[in-house]
Amino acid sequence: MDKFLINGPCKVRGEVLISGSKNAALPILASTLLFDKPVIIKNLPNVKDIDTMMSLLRSLGSKISLSKDKKIAKIYNKKKMKTFCPYSIVRTFRGSIIVLGALIGKYQKCVISLPGGCLIGARPVNLHLSALKKLNMNFSIKKGYIHANVNKRLKGAIIKFSRISVGATQNSIIAACLASGKTILKNCAIEPEIVDLTNFLNSAGAEIKWIGKRSCQIVGVNSLKETSYSIMGDRIEAGTFSVAAVANQGKLLIKNFDPTVITSELNLLKKTGAKIDIFKNRILVKGPKKIKNLINVQTKEYPMSLATDLQAQFMVLLCLANGQSSITENIFENRFMHVAELKRLGAKIIIKGNKAIINGPTEFNGAELMSSDLRASVALVLAAIFAKGKSIINRIYHLDRGYEKIEKKLRKVGANIKRIK
Ligand code: EPZ
Repeated sequence: MDKFLINGPCKVRGEVLISGSKNAALPILASTLLFDKPVIIKNLPNVKDIDTMMSLLRSLGSKISLSKDKKIAKIYNKKKMKTFCPYSIVRTFRGSIIVLGALIGKYQKCVISLPGGCLIGARPVNLHLSALKKLNMNFSIKKGYIHANVNKRLKGAIIKFSRISVGATQNSIIAACLASGKTILKNCAIEPEIVDLTNFLNSAGAEIKWIGKRSCQIVGVNSLKETSYSIMGDRIEAGTFSVAAVANQGKLLIKNFDPTVITSELNLLKKTGAKIDIFKNRILVKGPKKIKNLINVQTKEYPMSLATDLQAQFMVLLCLANGQSSITENIFENRFMHVAELKRLGAKIIIKGNKAIINGPTEFNGAELMSSDLRASVALVLAAIFAKGKSIINRIYHLDRGYEKIEKKLRKVGANIKRIK
């Protein structure tokens, strides 16, 4: 298994180019199952989760040709597609549940393994299933598999989600595209990746409209047309590099993404003392001499406050801040896996339920660390970059799932980081 060897402390300075968003690309790729016509997707990130989604699509019968750098995919589907998604793929990658809405919407049937929980929480799929049921999908669960079908075609309905869910919103939008009649989804997640999905589907002739703050109207169409679409820049990668710049008096020009999608996070960084210049598709972030603490930071659904996918990275920053800070995790029940590892570097963090109390400033000292999930892992990389001495980070395959060429990008801006095979 690959490891990272990091020698710190380092300052990050220079320019970084943000890749396409993994979490936008995944549902967009899943939704290509709705098409009879070829689709071209551009600005794909070259990361493991995207490879896995493509393997899943190929196993269902999609033909995918990739450009040399794997950033452009041309996808077209066979006349006869399979509708079975095995445990062997779903187990490695929870995001695969998102093909359920596409398969049931297009082929009226699907057998898919239940994804199960993961380290950050139980992550059930009840909201996905109850929404699709309202669209007339029948299902039963046998031996760990969801067996779903529908008579003829899904039927539009009014659905109000009892809790805001990114995946359930995406699955329902995709399923409703080819349903008969009108669907109205209320209390939707409105993360930018979902808007990217609806922009993509609309570019192919879907009739999706955002109506009101958290509602979405989908009028079913008979088929989707050929389209070519470029995936949005990854806001979580951009947020991660922004934190990196603030943490150790760095200075980074972060390019190739829309800064308005991380407004809340940039405002939080400004409160820590960062100077941030915002341009159309890039930002310039400069870290302060002394980082100010932040009290009562809450992770919330977009666009409110801090994205849960940036919580671990912000915690590293607040370890370096002066005074006491606190972060409450409101989205996932077990997303503090990085805390024990940060403590190995010297962090002073106390967990009380879903709240972390962080006492700074900490002088991180290098240590051997273990990655757990994707965002926890990147937080450890950041902490190790700012730590004095040598750190080794084990199990970095988590990072390869969602960060494209992370070590190359970090090295280019001054981090002393090496992958050991
Ligand atoms: C998406 O996960 C992202 N994954 C996550 O990113 C992200 O952390 C999360 O949204 C929140 O922003 C992808 O886009 C592939 P949810 P998702 O459904 O869709 C509960 C990363 O690091 N819930 O919005 O699974 C659930 O347990 C990943 O890139 C139900 O109770 O998130 C959680 O507590 C990690 N029942 C909360 O809702 C359901 O049926 C929000 O989950 C579905 C969800």
